[in-house]
Amino acid sequence: MVEDLRLDSLEGVGPVTTRKLSDAGVLVNKARQHLVDGGLIAKHFTSASEIYKHRQSIGKITTGTNCLDTLFDGGLETQALTEVYGEFGCGKTQFAHTMSVMVQKTKEEGGLEGSVLYIDTENTFRPERIVSIAQAHEMDPEKVLDNIIVARAYNSAHQTLILEEAGPIIEENNIKLIVADSAVGLFRSEYLGRGTLSNRQQKLNHFVHLLSRIAETYNCAAIATNQVMASPDVFFGDPTRPIGGNVVAHTSTYRIYFKKSGKKRIARMVDSPHHPEEEVIFALGEAGVIDPEDAEKKTKKTTKKAATKKAKEPEVEAKVETPEESTETPEVEAPAEASEVETVEAPPVDAKADDSEPVEE
Ligand SMILES: Nc1ncnc2c1ncn2[C@@H]1O[C@H](COP(=O)(O)OP(=O)(O)O)[C@@H](O)[C@H]1O
Ligand SMILES: [Mg+2]
Repeated sequence: MVEDLRLDSLEGVGPVTTRKLSDAGVLVNKARQHLVDGGLIAKHFTSASEIYKHRQSIGKITTGTNCLDTLFDGGLETQALTEVYGEFGCGKTQFAHTMSVMVQKTKEEGGLEGSVLYIDTENTFRPERIVSIAQAHEMDPEKVLDNIIVARAYNSAHQTLILEEAGPIIEENNIKLIVADSAVGLFRSEYLGRGTLSNRQQKLNHFVHLLSRIAETYNCAAIATNQVMASPDVFFGDPTRPIGGNVVAHTSTYRIYFKKSGKKRIARMVDSPHHPEEEVIFALGEAGVIDPEDAEKKTKKTTKKAATKKAKEPEVEAKVETPEESTETPEVEAPAEASEVETVEAPPVDAKADDSEPVEE
């Protein structure tokens, strides 16, 4: 028989020490429970029925477009981290702005009647864009702005701190969407070179895991944007491998790849646990991310206007289009793009790829 081991059975440990140690234990357990409740650390044991019940409450936020709702199978999910990656100007920030408005829609309209915590690391949050998107969806812009809490992060440690302290803010403000735009940029710029790579990956890993756990704990949707470089000569391998490497990729529940194709954009669902690997064409406009048909309607209108304008100032309109047109081939049809994305995505993100990352940058 194993003897019942008690603290006071140890030599030199009297009732006073026992009580002190026991009190300390209670304190530690309370602190742990607090961290579990706040989503900062994971629970040790959870029953499957508890997980099942929690997952039943997963909500979906419409993207406000038919095309992206199809890709997302209804909309952006809560209790999940969605990584949006793509090159500069592909619409990651526009998407984040659009979702910050859509989450506020009523449930009947595909929203969650929730607020937003927007962690802006690149100073690209624009309230004016929120106003336009809200107006396009016939929502009160002032109310919509009121429901977005913007946290400007100045360095990667600050970015992490914001999230570590977000628990009470999320609860008090009924936050249903957390945006980290960009999730990776500050980590990337602060930890340059091979020597600091593992340190950076570790810190970034902590950030994305925290984001993902908070999304689960508070039943929020989370978006992490991640910029990839477009120019193939910078990289040896995959020209569009996300800068965050596999850290973000492995933690995200969903990964969406945005790609420019002339004036249109292509969104592709990459390694989702239950979505088919599919892609759709969308566009960007005053209303944020929009269906390509709506963009065409708009273009027709502007072309008419432009035609009258052109008589006076023929150069202006043409110039606006140049930067995009020159880097992209507008004639490229979706299938061709599809195969391009395919090749680009082909090398699986594995542990080895990590080592070569600083060289690629
Ligand atoms: N008001 C607007 N109307 C139409 N398109 C816009 C508007 N604002 C931004 N865009 C489009 O969004 C693009 C920038 O997208 P953005 O989300 O900032 O890219 P990134 O992926 O780098 O975050 C611009 O190139 C432009 O095409
Ligand atoms: Mg951006």
